[in-house]
Amino acid sequence: MRSNRRPYQGPRTQLVVSIDIGTTFSAASVCILQPGTPPVFEEILRWPKQANPDAKVPSLVYYDSSGKPRCFGAETDSPDTKAEADEEGWIKAEWWKLYLRPDYLPKIDGIEIEIPELPPSRTVDDIFADFLEYVKGQLQVHVTSSHGNGESLWNSLYRNMDVVLTTPNGWEGRHQHRMREAAIAAGLVIRGTQVKFVTEAEAAVIYTAESGKINDWLVEDEHLIVCDCGGGTVDITGYRIQNVSPLRLEEMSYPRCYLAGGVFVNQAAKIYLMERLSGSDWDDETTIEHAMQSFERNAKRSFDGKNTFMTVELGGSKGDIKRGIVRGRLKIQKADMISFFEPSIQAIIEGLQETLHEGGDVANKIIIGGGLSNSPHVFSQLQKWASDLGLKLSRPGGPIEKAVTSGALSWYLDASVSSRVAKFHYGTNVAVPFDRNDPEVACRESEKYQDVLGEWKIDGAWSEIVEKNEKIKTGKEYSAWFHRPFTDADELTVSMDLYAYRWSRPPRFIKDPGCNMEKDGFLHLCTVEADLTSCYTAAPYSTARNKKGQRIKYLQARTLKGVESVPHY
Ligand SMILES: Nc1ncnc2c1ncn2[C@@H]1O[C@H](COP(=O)(O)OP(=O)(O)OP(=O)(O)O)[C@@H](O)[C@H]1O
Ligand SMILES: [Mg+2]
Repeated sequence: MRSNRRPYQGPRTQLVVSIDIGTTFSAASVCILQPGTPPVFEEILRWPKQANPDAKVPSLVYYDSSGKPRCFGAETDSPDTKAEADEEGWIKAEWWKLYLRPDYLPKIDGIEIEIPELPPSRTVDDIFADFLEYVKGQLQVHVTSSHGNGESLWNSLYRNMDVVLTTPNGWEGRHQHRMREAAIAAGLVIRGTQVKFVTEAEAAVIYTAESGKINDWLVEDEHLIVCDCGGGTVDITGYRIQNVSPLRLEEMSYPRCYLAGGVFVNQAAKIYLMERLSGSDWDDETTIEHAMQSFERNAKRSFDGKNTFMTVELGGSKGDIKRGIVRGRLKIQKADMISFFEPSIQAIIEGLQETLHEGGDVANKIIIGGGLSNSPHVFSQLQKWASDLGLKLSRPGGPIEKAVTSGALSWYLDASVSSRVAKFHYGTNVAVPFDRNDPEVACRESEKYQDVLGEWKIDGAWSEIVEKNEKIKTGKEYSAWFHRPFTDADELTVSMDLYAYRWSRPPRFIKDPGCNMEKDGFLHLCTVEADLTSCYTAAPYSTARNKKGQRIKYLQARTLKGVESVPHY
């Protein structure tokens, strides 16, 4: 991709890979950076046992009863594997990415999240690690087989390679942390710092802009909305184009994430099929699974909203006219087909409306991508909605499946997004003086305590470091000063809890009086520890209420690296 990329300026050859683990499909790309040579991106286009070369491979793993992974990706699709899986009692892990979902994502009307159970002995973190190990093997095969000196290249570079992992908009620091740990457990990287994160939507918009397909839309100061309608999530972000060449984008509103992707269309269809077939000759698990495969291959993908009915294959040649089954095929009427898609379409439209509105209603161009946007019905509904509002909607199409991993490599090289909007308020809990005249403090009298210098205090007050919707410049440090008293006898390690607050206005206290749980809307991000010994030895003594000690002022800072927020002292 993009031959006009500038030659790599780094001092030595470096390997960078990007991996997009999707709910239903995954992909990976490689770039070998050689000093003085323009970087070239290579997608992995051949995965084991693929019938046709394809950049995307199913995010599926079969486990045996001891919890050992037996086959991955397209290998799971072969009839031989399926027969072996049945015989040996292997268990299929699918849609497992969604087990990592944050619990604060908005609830979508009409969608009850029911994700297939994980194999008994594996956690979602284990499956991430197993899948990443499989991808690592394929990256190795790609590098060693597609370069003359591939084997020595791989052996000399893989230990220090950087890995860009993509995530939905809704994933926060702790989800990234778990993915990073999985990458280490998979042997993909040795150090956590080798793993970087970018959102799937951001990678997709960078790729789309670079592909030349939306050149007319790339005008300085104009606004764009990108909407990735994937298998699990719908991710929507609004951007302002700061600069066209080199591309510089600025987030206009905080990135949204909805659990409303294509798998929920299948979920609704499966519930419907089970009801329709209940008590019939076709009422068994194998037939339902077969029918769902047929639905996924045909009915779901070709339904355009106008077909009076679609059919799914149940198998055999029997019929049951009353149930609408003819020669082993079940008819699904148009209205029922529409109902499977409706919650996802509504979630996409609401998300787009909110993004437009929060960005000041200045955007009028929308790029949609992701597998679900290929549905003729979904696309026509979105087009209709957009044209009613005078908005332009484009599905750049083409090899969009490469969009995320190629865009992630561009992101790694170019840092095209220069500022982001804080999705949450970020801050910490601090102690405040106990004040009997302040009703919100007085009601916490039972929690008051004397600090080491003898002052009466209450813990758990909110102290903000970054405000929600604030524009955050990439690489800029956001910091706040905090004070804490110590005496010579005290332990000089401090720990601070970092929180995000979701709603518009954070309350003064993180917890209700006498309550151990954080109030609704707070998310505990992490606990940071720091040794303040050097600050203590440098600070002057002060005496309060006959106690001698020091009040140390220390700085807590967060930097935005990619889409990660990195805390440090
Ligand atoms: N023509 C089509 N019509 C309807 N749905 C489609 C069509 N083509 C693909 N899909 C659906 O798109 C989904 C896969 O999209 P995609 O590959 O973008 O998702 P993913 O990357 O696996 O998921 P996510 O990014 O949400 O984790 C599947 O649910 C698939 O059924
Ligand atoms: Mg995806």
